[in-house]
Amino acid sequence: MDAGTLHLVAERLAKARRVVAITGAGVSAESGIRTFRDTMDGLWKEFDPQRLATPEAFERDPATVTRWYDHRRLGCLAADPNPGHLALARLEARLADAGLGFVLATQNVDRLHQRAGSRRVLELHGSIMEWRCTATGRKLVPDPSPMTRFPPPSPFAEGALLRPDVVWFGELLPMEVFAAAERASRACDVFLSVGTSSVVFPAAGLIRTAAAHGAYTVEINREETAASVWVDAALRGPSGEVLPRLLAAMGPG
Ligand SMILES: NC(=O)c1ccc[n+]([C@@H]2O[C@H](COP(=O)([O-])OP(=O)(O)OC[C@H]3O[C@@H](n4cnc5c(N)ncnc54)[C@H](O)[C@@H]3O)[C@@H](O)[C@H]2O)c1
Repeated sequence: MDAGTLHLVAERLAKARRVVAITGAGVSAESGIRTFRDTMDGLWKEFDPQRLATPEAFERDPATVTRWYDHRRLGCLAADPNPGHLALARLEARLADAGLGFVLATQNVDRLHQRAGSRRVLELHGSIMEWRCTATGRKLVPDPSPMTRFPPPSPFAEGALLRPDVVWFGELLPMEVFAAAERASRACDVFLSVGTSSVVFPAAGLIRTAAAHGAYTVEINREETAASVWVDAALRGPSGEVLPRLLAAMGPG
């Protein structure tokens, strides 16, 4: 990672009054949670996540889809936040202490940001920790133990099922949550895009909204992405290393 760029970004952050960060699956990779671009483990090796995470797949084969989501839910529960999650929580606390704004919009469904101490989290794609009734929309938080019936029957309506309260490919994002993320993106001075390939819309549009309204845009990713060519600064590396270094480079808060 280029130390000059790191210091430039740290300076921008230290002067910012409002910061927005968007995170993707990459920020949780160092906690052992796979992104959709990694191959899957064990029993799930032959499955393509992009084809399981759809309403059509659930319609066709609800047992397989819910079994996969329960497997992922247990994986998320067993994982711990990594230094990248912790650094974002520290950044929020530092800005809040100074009376400044910070909004974290995440595409992750794993709740690791909240467990790391982040308080203002907009879950753009819902959460795998909550499941909802296909008939009534009522939600519950399943026990931390493995589910026993697939697909799980809903306790709220005869004949209905429970599905994870996540946004599948082709579904709409929760409207107020996305509107809040858009408002924050329009008003921020610095926008950080962390561990996301910037190809899943509409979430990927937030960085463009921020740039169009004059924000300084920064990408933190192991690899180049769709946004790399036009962001103001790109910090290459694992977010669990880059973010703590960025915080340290900001100096005492
Ligand atoms: N942890 C989770 O909650 C989780 C996991 C997988 C998928 N998903 C869901 O699926 C959607 C698409 O998933 P996806 O996997 O294509 O995510 P994505 O589109 O956000 O892509 C992952 C990105 O992370 C980068 N990356 C990988 N390891 C990294 C690291 N250590 N540090 C920094 N960057 C790193 C990759 O280069 C890639 O650009 C997400 O938006 C989310 O809703 C969530």
